[in-house]
Amino acid sequence: MQPSVDAIEAERFRQFIMGVTDYAIYMLSPQGVVITWNAGAQRFKGYHPDEIIGQHFSIFYTDEDRADGRPAKALAVARASGKFEDEGWRVRKDGSRFWANVVIDPIVNPEGELLGFAKVTRDITERRVAAEQLERAREQLFQSQQLEALGKLTGGIAHDFNNLLSVIMNGLELLRMARDPAIVSRSIDTMSRAAQRGAALTQQLLAFARQQPLLLAPHDAAQVIRSFETVLHRALPDAMRLHLRLDDGLPPALLDPTQFESALLNLVVNARDAMDGRGDVHLGLLAVTLADGEVARLPAGRYVRIDVCDGGMGMTPDTMARAIEPFFTTKEVGKGTGLGLSQVYGLMQQCDGALTLASRVGEGTTVSLYFPALAASLPPA
Ligand SMILES: Nc1ncnc2c1ncn2[C@@H]1O[C@H](COP(=O)(O)OP(=O)(O)O)[C@@H](O)[C@H]1O
Ligand SMILES: [Mg+2]
Repeated sequence: MQPSVDAIEAERFRQFIMGVTDYAIYMLSPQGVVITWNAGAQRFKGYHPDEIIGQHFSIFYTDEDRADGRPAKALAVARASGKFEDEGWRVRKDGSRFWANVVIDPIVNPEGELLGFAKVTRDITERRVAAEQLERAREQLFQSQQLEALGKLTGGIAHDFNNLLSVIMNGLELLRMARDPAIVSRSIDTMSRAAQRGAALTQQLLAFARQQPLLLAPHDAAQVIRSFETVLHRALPDAMRLHLRLDDGLPPALLDPTQFESALLNLVVNARDAMDGRGDVHLGLLAVTLADGEVARLPAGRYVRIDVCDGGMGMTPDTMARAIEPFFTTKEVGKGTGLGLSQVYGLMQQCDGALTLASRVGEGTTVSLYFPALAASLPPA
């Protein structure tokens, strides 16, 4: 008698399944006893069909998993929800372990009666090992980046302090020679600002080390900026100009003046560094009303915004994405600490405000700071 077309198809399909070597594909009885065994199963579990058909599939599990009742649970889940999927350690015939991806599907006849389970297992040990190696490499890279950053940080702080000390030393030199009281008084001014900046820098470092709380109070931002203006001007070399455009009569903002000043100084110094010693930096202060979602994470409302805008080299999208990371700097050792923007960012978070960056390579950068505006007006200073 000729075999029917269906029988030929079924036989082809059986041969196909049995021949697959990259997947273990086999059937279990409703109780979990192995009924069929393909080439893939033999290849990576190590059992010949004669040895394994008739055995319970829990033999592939580790002792711990067996003690935990996991084989029975897997079948129960497959039966109840129509599928079971898992990754975990499984055991080969020789006792060695491999990391397996396991899928169990129940096989049910049209009457809904459970005939058994189809089980497909893949050995993904290599993939897991590769992922672990990648993770380890990443950690090592991160550690070496931290070390490099620490080196840059130390160099950067030394550089900053040196700058401040040379301001003071130049001032002293000037005092020694100057007779004009106006020059004397200006020189004393400059030196005391530099000393204050040094103190502020140590404060910043301390704040960074132990996250000092801010002294937030309502302030007229325009007034704070004006009282600090000379220091900002001095941060720029002679060939550069700082233009202030401060709107008057702005609502008060909740800020810590010392931290606010050092934030502005950071932004102006960044603008200076981006501009190659010439050009203009614009500092703008205005009130804005934001809709929900107009600036990420800021609720709708009224804000006082400070823009520091330069026409410098700008940032690539990559740099912009990382600019606020602590220790991220593109400047050479001794020039940058990578702590400028990260501090300003941290400050803005603490003030319930925000920092935004807009930049184009070769065109310039605008850093905007948003402080929540208070409704009440300030008593006159
Ligand atoms: N105004 C700017 N123009 C171009 N790039 C900037 C500007 N401000 C910041 N950056 C980029 O962001 C990086 C991080 O800035 P910052 O945190 O202040 O650290 P640092 O100034 O010490 O490098 C800078 O190294 C620079 O690449
Ligand atoms: Mg900086």
